[in-house]
Amino acid sequence: MHADFIIRGAEIIDGNGTPRRKGDVAVSDDRIVATGDLGHWTAGREIEAKDRVVAPGFIDPHVHHDAALFTAPDMEFMTNQGVTTVINGNCGFSIAPIRRPENLLGQLRMISARPDLIFPTYAAYRDRIAAEPPAVNAACLIGQSTLRSNAMDDLSRAATDDELADMCALLDEALGQGAIGVSTGPFYPPARASTTAELIALGRVAHAHGKLYVTHMRDEGDRVIEALEETFSVGREACCGVHVSHHKCAGLANHGLSETTLAMIDAEMRQRDVGLDTTPWIASSTILNSGRHRQAERVIIAESEPHPELAGRDLADVARDWNTDLEGAIERLLPATGIFFIMAEEDVQRIMAYEHTMICSDGMPSGSHPHPRVWGTFPRVLGRYVRDVGLFSLEEGVRRMTSMPADRFGLGGRGRIAVGGFADLVIFDPRTIAEGATFENPIRPAHGIDRVFVNGREVFAFGKPTGNRPGRPLHQTAPVRVV
Ligand code: ZN
Ligand code: CU
Repeated sequence: MHADFIIRGAEIIDGNGTPRRKGDVAVSDDRIVATGDLGHWTAGREIEAKDRVVAPGFIDPHVHHDAALFTAPDMEFMTNQGVTTVINGNCGFSIAPIRRPENLLGQLRMISARPDLIFPTYAAYRDRIAAEPPAVNAACLIGQSTLRSNAMDDLSRAATDDELADMCALLDEALGQGAIGVSTGPFYPPARASTTAELIALGRVAHAHGKLYVTHMRDEGDRVIEALEETFSVGREACCGVHVSHHKCAGLANHGLSETTLAMIDAEMRQRDVGLDTTPWIASSTILNSGRHRQAERVIIAESEPHPELAGRDLADVARDWNTDLEGAIERLLPATGIFFIMAEEDVQRIMAYEHTMICSDGMPSGSHPHPRVWGTFPRVLGRYVRDVGLFSLEEGVRRMTSMPADRFGLGGRGRIAVGGFADLVIFDPRTIAEGATFENPIRPAHGIDRVFVNGREVFAFGKPTGNRPGRPLHQTAPVRVV
């Protein structure tokens, strides 16, 4: 019995949520070939992991690293936290399919600053990932706003029947080429004028492929209840599974509301296929002119095209320096992104602790002062919220980052330590794991992550990327749960 490498003497947390057990994990090529007591096995490389946990590599179901796969192929902001698979194309924005690059949306320019990194079809994007692989695996949703920009000249109104048919045909083609679902973003201006009927039409196309409807809902603040109801109605009318992205209750007036929203989700889940993910932070991050500043206790400038030197400064301080108000300062900083302190810790913890919640970073890596979630989300959950706060067990925390998103999005062979499964693995120290990134210093690797493997190859070791880039474009290989 011989393997390419064996991780010896680790606490194996297999991703299913079951209690850890001591043992070895053997890997050959891109697969896990044996687990348990492998004393009788030999290997080309022995990795001592006493007092360490070995777990399935984490799956981040919500990022905006669509183009970063090529511009930052080591994906260090992901691998440093143990993430081995990402899902792109969220919040209604994907960099494929784009037939009319001259109409490129402002938000898409923040995701891809390079005209050669937008793609006319999903197949072209997928093939580019296969030809120029990054360090992590990547699956992708197709964005509603992207579809609108292909089919419509005026995004400030509802789509006509013809335009909607055009969008649905484009979505159908992309899902046929391996995109794993549709993402909608009626919160954002390019899709704000879309009707519920438009969302339902897109949901029907997803359902026809057995894929998910994923949404940055129309509202996450004062009208979050109505937005949830709209999302559920899409699931009912289109018969598709719906997934609420980065669930939150934003704005002082809505603090505590997660008790109601989670009860709604729980009740709906009894009838239909509903899911959700969230980030472990009280601050959110999005475009600076989102209106969020009116609900925030504090705003940090993350990135500004005309004023890159102001990244990291408080918006209120900059406004004071300029003798203007927040609105006036935002006007001068655009295009820009911000970090908004708009949630209550109590809601963040309640949403995270809810038994069906997965973990996501919602990361966008651009700029010199990103939200710390880009680099630190997963270690923060396992350090602060598992070890320090005790929200749930380490096994449960790992499950919410591995088998749960794998099953939800149909990523077969991922998210578990199982013989025959892909060797996406992370070795970490449960006593020291923690995010390194802070709001003051957001670009810093995590503590306690020893080694990370993707498809059987080491991509990150002791604070540094190895330079290996074994990532693959992933399509849905297992059906999503059908109710
Ligand atoms: Zn979003
Ligand atoms: Cu997002």
